Amino acid sequence: MGHLRFDAGDVTLVLACAVGAPPSLHYWGARLGDEVAVEELERLSIRQGMHGAADVDLPLSLAMEPGLGQPMLHAFAAHREGRDWGSLFTVASVEQDADAATISCRDERTALRIDYRIRFDTVTGVVGISSTLINEGEAVLDLGEMATACLPIPATITDVIGFTGRWTQEFGQERMPRPTGTYMRENRSGRTSHFSYPALLLAGADTDESQGEVYGLHLAWSGNHRLRVDSLTDGRVVASMGALLFPGEIRLAAGESYASPEIVAAYSTSGFSALSRKFHAHVRGKLLHPEMRAKPRPVHYNTWEAVYFGHDTDRLKELATRAAALGVERFVLDDGWFGGRRHDRAGLGEWQVSDAVYPQGLKPLVDHVTGLGMEFGLWFEPEMVNPDSDLYRAHPDWVLQIEGVEQVPFRNQYALDISRAEVADYLFECLDAILSGHDISYIKWDMNRDLSHPGGANGQAVAYKQVIAFYSLLDRIREAHPQVEIESCASGGARADMGALTHCDRVWTSDSNDALDRQYIQRGASFFLPPEVLGCHVGPAHCHVTGRRLSMALRAATALTGHMGIELNLLTDRQADLDQLKAAIALHKKHRALLHDGDLYRLDTAAQHLASGVVARDKSGALFSVAYVASDPHILPGRLYFAGLDENRSYRVKLVWPEGWQALKAPSLIEKLDLANEGAVFSGAALLRAGMQLPHAKPESCLLFYVAAS
Ligand code: GLA
Repeated sequence: MGHLRFDAGDVTLVLACAVGAPPSLHYWGARLGDEVAVEELERLSIRQGMHGAADVDLPLSLAMEPGLGQPMLHAFAAHREGRDWGSLFTVASVEQDADAATISCRDERTALRIDYRIRFDTVTGVVGISSTLINEGEAVLDLGEMATACLPIPATITDVIGFTGRWTQEFGQERMPRPTGTYMRENRSGRTSHFSYPALLLAGADTDESQGEVYGLHLAWSGNHRLRVDSLTDGRVVASMGALLFPGEIRLAAGESYASPEIVAAYSTSGFSALSRKFHAHVRGKLLHPEMRAKPRPVHYNTWEAVYFGHDTDRLKELATRAAALGVERFVLDDGWFGGRRHDRAGLGEWQVSDAVYPQGLKPLVDHVTGLGMEFGLWFEPEMVNPDSDLYRAHPDWVLQIEGVEQVPFRNQYALDISRAEVADYLFECLDAILSGHDISYIKWDMNRDLSHPGGANGQAVAYKQVIAFYSLLDRIREAHPQVEIESCASGGARADMGALTHCDRVWTSDSNDALDRQYIQRGASFFLPPEVLGCHVGPAHCHVTGRRLSMALRAATALTGHMGIELNLLTDRQADLDQLKAAIALHKKHRALLHDGDLYRLDTAAQHLASGVVARDKSGALFSVAYVASDPHILPGRLYFAGLDENRSYRVKLVWPEGWQALKAPSLIEKLDLANEGAVFSGAALLRAGMQLPHAKPESCLLFYVAAS
C-alpha cells in the first residue's frame, strides 16, 4: 500500500506510506473528489534538485530525522553515546481501519522503530496523530527531541496565529505573517503554561471567522512543548509539535519506548469558527466522559474570592444558604480547609481536614450544602508542598530539584516528584480518604507553580514523566470515584489543554474574574475548547485582580455563556445585584442545554465589540452575545450580522439580557420593535445577510439576544 487516504466533510488527508520509503503527509486540505487519484497527486508533486543545493529533491518525512539530509529542519535527535544519531526511517508495515491507521517505520542501522498512530474522525475530519519510539537496539538510547509529527502545510498559508499570555491574561492571540525561517514557541514551565498555549492556527491572509482556509494544530499535552512552523528555503512549509525534552530526560534501555503526546489537527475551508466547531466536536465526542456530558453542568459557587483563607463553618454555611437561594447547584470549598494551611506559606501537602478550623470535620458543612440540594466540591493541589508542612519535614527528598541549586521561589511552595510511586501512592491515599469519607462530587485540582528545576531522585530530569504521572493519578482517582468530576486548574488557565481534558471534566479558564478581560480570554479559549468546559464565574463588583469596577449585568452576561459559576461575597453584595444575579442564573439554566451542546459562531465585528452566538444543532434557536468593550467612535454601533441560522426559516428575535434594559437614547430599535418583550420575527436570510442595527449601549455592557425559529 503506497498511501492512506481519509475523506470527511470539506477535508481530505493523504499520507504517503510506501514500504521502504520515508512516511510523509502527502496532501491535507480541501476535499478532493473520488475521481482524484493519489497517483495523480504524486505526479503533480514532482520536484527537482537545484544548483547550490542537493542534486535531488530531498523528501520531507513525519519525523524529519537527520538521515534525510535536510539542511534546515530536524525534529528528531537521538544517539547512543554519540553514535547512531543519523536515523532514516522507512515504512515497514501499515495497518488501516476505516478511521485509523498505524504506520510502523524502522531504521535497521540505528535499530529504532517509530509507530505512527493516526485517528481520523470521519464526520469532522479531525485528525489525531501520535508516535511511539521503540529502542530495538542493545544499548541505551538518549532521546533529545522528537516532534510527534511534522506536517507540511501549503505555502499559500501566509499567516501564523500563536497563543500567548500571562497569569490572568490567558489565550491571547498573535497573528503575524509567516516568517521565513522558523516561528517557534517553547515552554519549559512543566505545565501547559500561561504564556504558550500548545496550539497554532495557520491561515490565509484573508481568513476570518466566517470564511477562508485555516489549519489548526493542538498538542494534547500538559507539559513542556515545542511548536514550530518552518518555512524552508526550498519553498515548503512544515508545522510540527512535540513534547520538549530536557537533556538526558528520556533514556531508553533495550526494548523500552517513548510515547509522544497526540497532535489534534483540523482543517477548515470556512474560517476560524468552523474550525473551532470541529475541535469542539472532538472534545465533546472523544474526550469528555459520556456520563458527565449527559448531565447538566451545575452552576457553581466557589469560596475563594469571598473568604480566601478565612474559613469559618458558620460563615460558609451562610454563604451556602444564600448561594442555594440564588439557584446555585454546587458549592466548592477552595484552598484553606486542610492541615496548617491558614495562608499560602504553610500546610500544602497536609491533606487532612484541619481540626483547628473544622473541629467537627467537614461533615457538618457538607451536610448543610447537600441538605440545601447542592453538590459539594473541594479544592486540592496534590502535586505541591509548602516547605513549612509536615509532609516536607517528613520527606524533604520528595521534591523536584537540581541538587546543589537553590529552589526558585514560587508561591512559597515546591513541586513533588509524583513520578515516584511512593509519592503518587501517598497522594492517592490522601485524596481517596477524603473522597471516601464525604459526599463529594467535584474536585478542583490546582497546580500553582512552574516546575523550574524538574530533577528527580536520581538526578535525571522528570518533567515528561511528571505529566504522565499527573494523568495516571487523575485516572486512578476517577476509577476509584467515578461519580467525582475533576477540574484542571493551574493558577487559572495554565493547564487547560486537550491532554488534561482527556483525564478531567472542565478547566478553570483564568484567575481573572474581570468580565472585560474574560470576554477576550474566553473567546481565545473557545478557539479550541467548547463553552461548557470553561469555568466562567461572576466575580466581585470590584475585581480583585484588576481593580476595575464592572456592573453585575456585564459580569453575569459574561459568565453565563460558559460553565457558569459565582465567586463573590454573598454576605456583603448589594441586594439589587444579587437579584440580578439570580435572574442571570435562571437565564443560564434556561439556555444551558443549548449553550453546552450547540455550535459556536464567533462573529467578526469592529474592535469596540466582541460578539458570538451559540446555535442549536438543529438551528431551532440561538443565543447571541454582543459585548460593548470600549467606547464607539461612531454615533451608532454597526449592525449585528447573525450567523449559523437557517436562511429558509423565520426567527423571533428577543433581547433577553439585561432585564429591563433601555437604550441610552430611547427609542432604539429595541423599544420600537419591542424586542425586550414580545420580540419581532425576521427571516433567517435577512438576519444573516442584512444584519440588525445594534442599539447604542454604554461601553462595558453586554446584550444577549435569543432567537427562536418560529
Ligand atoms: C489558584 C487558583 C485559584 C485559587 C487559588 C487558591 O490561584 O487558580 O482559583 O484556587 O489557587 O490558592
